[in-house]
Amino acid sequence: MAEETAYEKYLHADKILSFQKKEDELVCDGERDFQGVQQEAELIWTRINFMLKRTNERIRRGDLHEAGHLLEQAAALWSDLTGKSEELLWRLWPGDFLKIRGTLGRGSTADSPRYKESEQLARLLWTPYEKVLKAKGVGLASLLGDAKGEDSDGLVSLTKAMMWYDYRVQEFNLAHLYLVFGEIGDKTVGLKGGTTAYLIKRYNKFLFPKLWDSINELYKDFKS
Ligand code: HEM
Repeated sequence: MAEETAYEKYLHADKILSFQKKEDELVCDGERDFQGVQQEAELIWTRINFMLKRTNERIRRGDLHEAGHLLEQAAALWSDLTGKSEELLWRLWPGDFLKIRGTLGRGSTADSPRYKESEQLARLLWTPYEKVLKAKGVGLASLLGDAKGEDSDGLVSLTKAMMWYDYRVQEFNLAHLYLVFGEIGDKTVGLKGGTTAYLIKRYNKFLFPKLWDSINELYKDFKS
């Protein structure tokens, strides 16, 4: 076997790849894609979570432009996850997933600590964000109503980035929902004991509900 290069040593490539099933262990070809995408998702969530922690710090120290940029980058990583979900819907034959499912035991992505942490960390952004609004004496509805392109302090960019981040997460949720429809249907009970009704109920929740609701507030006295 060729000697391990410095590049591979740095990445711990051997270790990482040892966690993939060997070709002769795969129950079907589609398992390479399924296991690969799930593993990639875990790595991506660690990057998203790191960015969310840094975003939180930036908001707390008043560096709102930088916080907004970071959040946009984290949102882009969710688009990668959406793309991977779509890729599986495209590539993974339902009959292949039927075979794979028999090997999964009770393991569900719903139990991923990194996925759960991504939701907690996103929700944790709300308190420092509201503090900024309070300190500046700005109400959300008035900010959304009045911002005219001026953004010297970064509050407008950050507000948009929060909406954008939430949107990209919801977009992933939708893509995942269609993946589930396409692989196991909407009546099959999942590994956590619920059908897609559970996912729809679960997904119907914004990360920043007050932000979206402030749009209603903006329009509440509007008469056409
Ligand atoms: C064949 C492909 C897939 C099927 C059939 C599937 C099915 C499901 C089902 C039924 C659930 C609900 C909980 C449960 O019963 O396990 C679930 C949860 C979840 N899945 Fe998938 N999934 C697939 C692939 C993926 C992929 C590729 C990802 C990530 C890129 C992913 C991420 C998640 C997450 C994050 C949850 C937890 C949702 C929550 O509770 O908020 N799934 N999946």
